[in-house]
Amino acid sequence: MANLQLAITAFGGPETLKLQTTDIPVPADNQVLVKVAYAGVNPIDAKTRAGLGWGAEKIKDSLPWVPGFDVAGIVARDAGEFKAGDRVVGRIVEGGGYGQYLCADKSALARVPDSVPLEIAATFPVAGLTALQVLEHADVRHQDRVLILAGAGGVGHIAIQLANINGATVYASCSTANVDFVSSLGAEAVDYHKAPVEEQVKDIDVLIDLMGGDVGEAALQCVKPSGRVVTVPTITAPRIIEAAKQRGIEAKGMLVQPSVEDLDVLLHAADEGKLRITISATYPLKQGVQAHKDIESGRTRGKIILEIPQ
Ligand SMILES: NC(=O)c1ccc[n+]([C@@H]2O[C@H](COP(=O)([O-])OP(=O)(O)OC[C@H]3O[C@@H](n4cnc5c(N)ncnc54)[C@H](OP(=O)(O)O)[C@@H]3O)[C@@H](O)[C@H]2O)c1
Repeated sequence: MANLQLAITAFGGPETLKLQTTDIPVPADNQVLVKVAYAGVNPIDAKTRAGLGWGAEKIKDSLPWVPGFDVAGIVARDAGEFKAGDRVVGRIVEGGGYGQYLCADKSALARVPDSVPLEIAATFPVAGLTALQVLEHADVRHQDRVLILAGAGGVGHIAIQLANINGATVYASCSTANVDFVSSLGAEAVDYHKAPVEEQVKDIDVLIDLMGGDVGEAALQCVKPSGRVVTVPTITAPRIIEAAKQRGIEAKGMLVQPSVEDLDVLLHAADEGKLRITISATYPLKQGVQAHKDIESGRTRGKIILEIPQ
């Protein structure tokens, strides 16, 4: 049997993604062979494909390379405590989710409750973990006034809901088209088409910056002198941290960490109906080029997912 994958064949535009066929990999003792059902598509996938950031640096000598850090699927063969047919999800740090089979470390996999569709589970390893961990980094507490930039995106739409669960008052920036969506998640929508965010929100305790760059820097004006800032896009993090320092505000960057414990928190919240995940498009693997065009547009609502042929 063959293993169909979609690989980055060279750094460049979305068309550098090409289908390829390889052998089904053989798991090591500490690994599980997973038949992938769904893979999340994240901005890091497109940035890496374009040759940008730490992701590209890491894989530059490994092309063709199969992206996909978000993996939800079925255990293909018994492997210790994992049995064939078990439903699993994991943040696969080596990538490989854009393909039918991969070997995942047992320690990377969480079990997906029956009530949670695998498609939804596939949104958790990058976007969900980032949302959960950025709120921890920012130490979001009850009654904090929290501003989330890019509230309608993959990370933002989950972070709004988790910040609400923490008891924060949440403001989230978005375009006019996403005001109703962001409001429905429990945030006060800040429409950046109407006026600059910094003119609309003041005295923020916590800024969750999912935009970085000019947008992230301008939003520092919303933050109280004693406030906290976590800036998530890694490429512009040094600039935001320096700009915050100039204003006397503490800011830090972050890199999402794989954590089965945190995945379990998200899966449990979804199982209990406390998290509403929006998937705006599910593309078949062979339409991965379109999925990359979408994610690169910076305009997608919620998550974009690839469905892997079975
Ligand atoms: N450091 C890490 O470990 C880590 C982990 C995950 C993600 N990230 C980074 O974090 C960022 C967010 O990730 P994501 O997956 O949430 O991205 P995403 O899903 O691609 O975000 C898309 C959203 O951005 C919104 N947006 C675009 N321009 C905006 C603006 N000027 N103001 C407010 N919102 C705007 C869009 O909503 P509108 O159309 O309404 O504007 C859209 O819904 C990315 O840069 C990603 O690479 C870093």
